[in-house]
Amino acid sequence: MKIQLLLGCAACALITHAADSLIVHSGWIDLNKNGKQDVYENAGQTVEARVADLLGQMTLEEKLGQLQQSHREADAVKKFGNQLHQGAISSFLDGSDLIETPVQRNQLQHLAVEESRLGIPLIFGHDSIHGFRTIFPIPLALASAWEPELFERTQTISARETAAVGIDWTFAPMVDLARDPRWGRIAEGFGEDPWLGSLYAAACVRGFQGTNPAAADRVMACMKHYVGYGATEGGRDYNSTKISDFTLRNFYLPQFKAGVDAGVGTFMSAFNCLNGIPASGNHHTLTEILRDEWKFPGYVVSDWESVGELIKHGIAANTNEAARLGLTAGVDMEMVSTSYHDTVKQQVEQGIISQAVVDEAVRRILRVKFRKGLFDRPYVDETLFKTAQLKPDAVTLAREVAAKSCVLLKNENAALPLSKQIQKLALIGPFAEDAGSLLGCWAGRGRAEDSISLATGLRAKLSNGKGLTVRRGCDAYDSTNLFQKEIQQAVKAASVAEAVILALGEPANWSGESSSRAELGLPGRQMELFEAVVATGKPVIVLLINGRPLALPRLQEKAAAILEAWDPGVQGGNGVADIVFGDVEPAGRLTVSFPRSVGQVPTYYNHLNTGRPGLGAYTGQYVDSVKDPLYPFGFGLAYTTFAYGNVELSATSAKADETFAARTKIKNTGTRAGEAVVQLYIRDVAASAGARPVRELKGFQKVKLNPGESRTVEFIISEKELGYFDAQGHWLVEPGKFQVWIAADSATGSPVDFELVK
Ligand code: NOJ
Repeated sequence: MKIQLLLGCAACALITHAADSLIVHSGWIDLNKNGKQDVYENAGQTVEARVADLLGQMTLEEKLGQLQQSHREADAVKKFGNQLHQGAISSFLDGSDLIETPVQRNQLQHLAVEESRLGIPLIFGHDSIHGFRTIFPIPLALASAWEPELFERTQTISARETAAVGIDWTFAPMVDLARDPRWGRIAEGFGEDPWLGSLYAAACVRGFQGTNPAAADRVMACMKHYVGYGATEGGRDYNSTKISDFTLRNFYLPQFKAGVDAGVGTFMSAFNCLNGIPASGNHHTLTEILRDEWKFPGYVVSDWESVGELIKHGIAANTNEAARLGLTAGVDMEMVSTSYHDTVKQQVEQGIISQAVVDEAVRRILRVKFRKGLFDRPYVDETLFKTAQLKPDAVTLAREVAAKSCVLLKNENAALPLSKQIQKLALIGPFAEDAGSLLGCWAGRGRAEDSISLATGLRAKLSNGKGLTVRRGCDAYDSTNLFQKEIQQAVKAASVAEAVILALGEPANWSGESSSRAELGLPGRQMELFEAVVATGKPVIVLLINGRPLALPRLQEKAAAILEAWDPGVQGGNGVADIVFGDVEPAGRLTVSFPRSVGQVPTYYNHLNTGRPGLGAYTGQYVDSVKDPLYPFGFGLAYTTFAYGNVELSATSAKADETFAARTKIKNTGTRAGEAVVQLYIRDVAASAGARPVRELKGFQKVKLNPGESRTVEFIISEKELGYFDAQGHWLVEPGKFQVWIAADSATGSPVDFELVK
């Protein structure tokens, strides 16, 4: 314990209001044994000076303490009291219900700051993925809005709610590129495009950290899962991945780099084995790329026990080796498993692990703790949490984004939007009244009772609310033969209704971690319900509630309309109703392809050409299916229609240091106002370091047009849109032919040629 000097008179905490945050200062100044304040405790010093001073005073045991993250349960104060006294824990993460208030967090912090020799504060982590209490749509849905700024706003609110309960750090964004909808974690990412994914990654970091992560309403972000986790074989979670360096550089790494460029504080190393070397023991990705090439100054935390799991991966013979591999590869902090704590001291003393490796890991962790302001404001206000959650601006935003995330996949004979004057509307299906399911996976501290069900949202819009009849029809996944009666009741309700909505999909816990699927259809008896309702002859409007692309060709064939609503969050019912009744025009577009069948997986738009492209025999077709997806990347309808003109270029050739413009005219050819998502795609026709995809998204603009209105949309193209990485990470911009599309999605439009000259 240090000598403490009390500042001021009676108060032991001074509270001041800074520009956008409440700052609570400890009223004590800690003095060292010479009666002076240490450099590391002086907020006026630079972060690097503070880190160096503190590191210089730490024992090896204290340093190793900074590498340990433990799991916090209800008994944490008792359980970890001694360790905190010794400075043996750096961080806690929570999986329990405790974190409704910051009380226990402050108690633990007190032990670390006031009772340990150097008073190094703890950093508290938690998974706020798409909201804390105000649950927004899942990230895959938010990506469908094609509005990174909107995503940033949701994460700003999430940061505010998360910070109010004493969490300093969230394990998001998940930027794993995913091409396999069987993998349940596809819900947590932004889809199959690295360019769009990079915009969302940066937006998320800005949303969480703001311009000053030390502010009381901000949290540190964490890029995860580094790297390649989304390419998991067979879509099975935690499985191995094989990704060439060339593919890694061009598809899997850019989103992580975007996070570094946005100033992210931390990274999380992934569970998967990457080309035979587990990501949590991978020196090439963690040190050569992340630290040496990208100059990332923050720290890497392992995923849950993923350092210990190096043994099961078959790369470490025992805990000693696992610790050595993880630490020397570049994993600075170990989540839950304790191999660093248990073995590194001895290994340093025996010269097996160098002191410099330990120091570097500690330096990185301390840097982030200083940056987060934890040394200067270790405690959080214990009253704020009471009013911080579900504030009106959060709820309003949740509704706006739920509507903007919806993607209209089919709309025959303008089945949608519905009139609010409709007198008899049937809402059928297992998701009609299940408000909890709308929250999706990783729902933080979201509560079913806060959530607006589809039934509630739709009913509120009808001029005659009593005209809504709701029938479950069947369970979401129970496939037993128990639902004949309920299906009959649903059919009856449909038969007498003016319009029929079927709310179908998959339960929230069927996506997210450890929720892979082997099939991509509707679970349980839902297809039977669909067929029975369709057989009434009524046009059926399907609302899909799900966390992944599903393969639903039969719905495409038989439904009148399909609205992909995803897991739309706490205001899902209202947001979806805004679209259903046309108060908001649908403007979402898919950021991931929807296959026709599991057998087509993986199917993604930015694939390479084969030597035999096209249709017909000997072109890579299936004998029993076409090869294109049911709905391609970028696809989504509006209630109106848009015509895209020819693409014009300001120049048909240019040099690498010049820019040129591509433009086209978009016209609203329908009778309603609407919003087009105008997409720029480019193809590098011949590339020396490796073939480039048949198309790559390189720009988009959302354009609102009234009926009959036209607008010219222009994109400026520079070497940033034309280059690519070689396998070593060099950026190449090569002279030669390119193709340029401005189109409604990745499968339509006609390209024009462009030449990059020396
Ligand atoms: C394991 C998950 O893979 C990761 O995404 C999450 O952040 C950690 N658990 C902590 O909950």
